[in-house]
Amino acid sequence: MSRSDSGKNELPPDAHHVGSAGDFESGDYLLVEVDGIEVAVYCTEDGYFAISNFCLHQGGPLCEGPVTGTVSQNEDGTLCFDDDTQVVRCPWHGWEFDIETGDHLSRPEYSQPTYDVLVRDGEVYVCW
Ligand code: FES
Repeated sequence: MSRSDSGKNELPPDAHHVGSAGDFESGDYLLVEVDGIEVAVYCTEDGYFAISNFCLHQGGPLCEGPVTGTVSQNEDGTLCFDDDTQVVRCPWHGWEFDIETGDHLSRPEYSQPTYDVLVRDGEVYVCW
């Protein structure tokens, strides 16, 4: 989740610099390592989102999978394509996680760790 930031305060102590906003293209991600943890930082139309790259299923490289919308169900039971929810699909076994919340799409008991992202003066920080 992107943190709102006035840019007038000191950086929070949990902020780890991971790159410049210019390093990102919308719809793309950077794979960074902070304190030995691989994190994929996505840049989307809705902001920046960071999610653990270590798939909780069996440790696959989650961010190597595609990011797409997903199929959801309308109130009348018909199916539709929902491109508001951005989902990353693990390349190993296809588990899908919302990149904003980390939640597995159909098994809410599973959720990937996510991290706040702060952008200040064109620099991107992951916070934890
Ligand atoms: S390791 Fe990611 S779905 Fe199995």
